[in-house]
Amino acid sequence: MRIIRAKDYKDMSEKAASIIWAQMLLKKNSVLGLATGGTVLGIYEILCEKYMEGELDFSSVKTLNLDEYVGLEGRHPQSYRHYMDKNLFEKVNILKNNTFLPNGLAEDLKRECKDYDETIRQLGPIDLQLLGLGRNGHIGFNEPDDHFEDNTHVRRLNETTIKDNSRFFEMGEEVPKSAITMGIKPIMESKAVLLAVSGVEKAKALKAVLNGPVTPSVPGSILGKHENLIVVADLDALMHVG
Ligand code: GLP
Repeated sequence: MRIIRAKDYKDMSEKAASIIWAQMLLKKNSVLGLATGGTVLGIYEILCEKYMEGELDFSSVKTLNLDEYVGLEGRHPQSYRHYMDKNLFEKVNILKNNTFLPNGLAEDLKRECKDYDETIRQLGPIDLQLLGLGRNGHIGFNEPDDHFEDNTHVRRLNETTIKDNSRFFEMGEEVPKSAITMGIKPIMESKAVLLAVSGVEKAKALKAVLNGPVTPSVPGSILGKHENLIVVADLDALMHVG
């Protein structure tokens, strides 16, 4: 495990973006595992800038996103498909057909989970998996539980997660209660994992991830077993870590 210490959110974003940038320079047709949420927004912003400056080429890149809300269509402003289109895909030269997210509107969700695992299998292993960290230690939407779920599955969201994510929704608008998420297996089989963490509210979860023990009650703690984990965190997030 490598821990890269950043001064603040901006510094964390720059350092994490530079790792993705390097990955894309090293392998033009990288398969990137992508995340959503507030933490990674700054990273996407920098990648878009680098693209505009002619430094980055997404034309051969393929992406697999971690998760999607159940019941939100792709055009819904809070769907993760919309988030990815708006914050990255529509701003760079990636081919839309090379961007994959689970379909939260699928009629048969079980089938959709199987199909997404098959897509991951065909494209994988993921070269670099970007992850944020939930305040309760979740990764993707792998929520605290009594076991780790290997494969793509539908997950009922915890109250803390619903509350945390409600900040992105309009007042009075309901946050979906469940989501489809990639399981732990493809994350652990990624060639490298880049965990981006910022802010005091993540400090406890980050400490549990970095110091262990590995437990499904803190899903991110499994990352401690990954051979090539890169953590980029700011000083606020690292406040409980020696
Ligand atoms: C969401 C996403 C996760 C993300 C996490 C942290 O629930 N499903 O992939 O890492 O929350 O989000 P944020 O960066 O907004 O704190």
